[in-house]
Amino acid sequence: MKKIDIVQTILPRNDYTPQQKIAQQYAPTNIALVKYWGKRDLELNLPVTSSISLSLDKLGATTSIAVIESKDDEIILNKKLQDNNSNFSRRIVEYLNLFRFNNNYRYRINTEVNIPVASGVASSACGFAALILALNSLFNWQLSKQQLSILARIGSGSAARSLWEGFVIWHAGSQANGMDSFAEPLNYQWPELKCKLLTLETAAKKISSREAMLQTLASSTLYNAWPAQVTQDLKLMEQALQNKDFHLLGATAENNALSMHACMLAAKPAICYFTPQTLAIYQLVWKLRQEGIALYLTQDAGANLKVLYTEDKMLDALLSLL
Ligand code: PMV
Repeated sequence: MKKIDIVQTILPRNDYTPQQKIAQQYAPTNIALVKYWGKRDLELNLPVTSSISLSLDKLGATTSIAVIESKDDEIILNKKLQDNNSNFSRRIVEYLNLFRFNNNYRYRINTEVNIPVASGVASSACGFAALILALNSLFNWQLSKQQLSILARIGSGSAARSLWEGFVIWHAGSQANGMDSFAEPLNYQWPELKCKLLTLETAAKKISSREAMLQTLASSTLYNAWPAQVTQDLKLMEQALQNKDFHLLGATAENNALSMHACMLAAKPAICYFTPQTLAIYQLVWKLRQEGIALYLTQDAGANLKVLYTEDKMLDALLSLL
């Protein structure tokens, strides 16, 4: 099954026309508390396991889309026109190819993100989520959030979770066509829970999460234990959210992230997103925890870290120094 089959299932006509000149939408980035690592279907971005995330409401992507009279799409990122041969443009153009319809539309995509791009802070998640929301507005499809989540997922897996604020679960699903693999919000309110990005590295990562997942699944013996751990961590995370148990949430998220990186380290060849600075921050946080300061870390496919803590003026001040 191909991506275009999914688009045609959700948007069965081939004569959609834009209902306005330009449409703009915002999507927040999301940080997984229980990670998605490994695809059961590479083409459709179907995950091996479910995952739970927290959206960082003020950090994300604002994307506008307009139909243009041109031979090529125009891709603009943070006010800079991107080379059509760049990986960034190619990925977006490949996604737009799914939405050309009868008229073979060409688009100008203008995206502003307020987080580093491609360095493991989920810029592709908010990027693809904002893009599908903008397409939905431009054409006035009025798709449901579930349908939009599936369409965002075929752009980037974790984008399926970027359509909501707060806590979100992405169901792995079991169908081959992935129509049961979408995200939905979890109804827990915890405004005091904070997640702060520690940007240690802004350069693009050397190995994409897609390649890193492939390599982990193909060669890491530790990965055999991963699906069972995630099943357990999903239960613990729901329990932590239900009881507002910060220590359970932090400990589960940190252990889950480190286990994901352990699977990668055991790949052949090893995949290592840690820099000396990343490790130094882990050691600092572990030491602070021993002193009774409630901080936990999580890390995605990059050197950057995210600190989990609950609202506290002292901690805000301390973290702003890092
Ligand atoms: O959606 P992708 O291909 O960017 O993969 C994201 C993978 C992690 O960020 C490492 C984990 C996650 O669940 O977001």
